[in-house]
Amino acid sequence: MADNYLENKYDNLLKNKTSMSAKKATAVSSLMLKNRSYRGYDQRCIVTFEHLKHIVSVNDKIPSARNQQVLRFKLVDSDNADKVLNLIKLGSALPDLHLPIKGTEPRAFIIVCSIIDADKWTYTDLGISCQSMLLQAVEMGLNGICIGAFNKEKIKEEFNLDAEPLLILAIGKGAEKIRIKSIQADKDHNYYRENGEHIVPKVKIDELIF
Ligand SMILES: Cc1cc2nc3c(=O)[nH]c(=O)nc-3n(C[C@H](O)[C@H](O)[C@H](O)COP(=O)(O)O)c2cc1C
Repeated sequence: MADNYLENKYDNLLKNKTSMSAKKATAVSSLMLKNRSYRGYDQRCIVTFEHLKHIVSVNDKIPSARNQQVLRFKLVDSDNADKVLNLIKLGSALPDLHLPIKGTEPRAFIIVCSIIDADKWTYTDLGISCQSMLLQAVEMGLNGICIGAFNKEKIKEEFNLDAEPLLILAIGKGAEKIRIKSIQADKDHNYYRENGEHIVPKVKIDELIF
């Protein structure tokens, strides 16, 4: 993947912004399916500050409890990616793989913070925000992952944050093959790898509905 792949895709996206409503919109269901959690990225694809800003821009359109909008975002491009990389944990369910594999580390992040002491409404807003941002990333031809396992204090210190870091998104061009596998609710929910594929078990819809 050449560096300019993403630039071209992003430029086209912005150019077509006005005409997009006339075109058939990308189906949400297709974005949802592509929106898997990637723990390995193609480092030839450079995610810029502008790309990250476009992803974060969903946040002035999403719902928010009492519309308080207490979330704030620190954008981390490749210049500062190493500062985050050392402080996150990926793929705890597959400890033997020591993910991410060397050379496939994410090189861009969004640190999602709260300007108040987080309560249940903050966490509700957080989920809506992160999923919206990941879907935006997929629409741009990118991928990502939510990261809850990180060193909060060190992240706060490293980036001199005046707010509480709650979750980190890694963003990049995914370099893994990932497949959903439909399962019954009483089966193992842990993701696993098989023949080079990352398998994500998901409980069948019939068992999710009362
Ligand atoms: C709130 C939240 C926190 C997560 N934290 C981590 C994490 O710290 N490390 C990691 O490798 N994956 C993390 N994940 C990714 C999940 O493992 C992933 O969503 C799950 O395996 C299902 O895969 P899918 O997103 O492709 O459907 C997190 C996901 C969510 C929603």
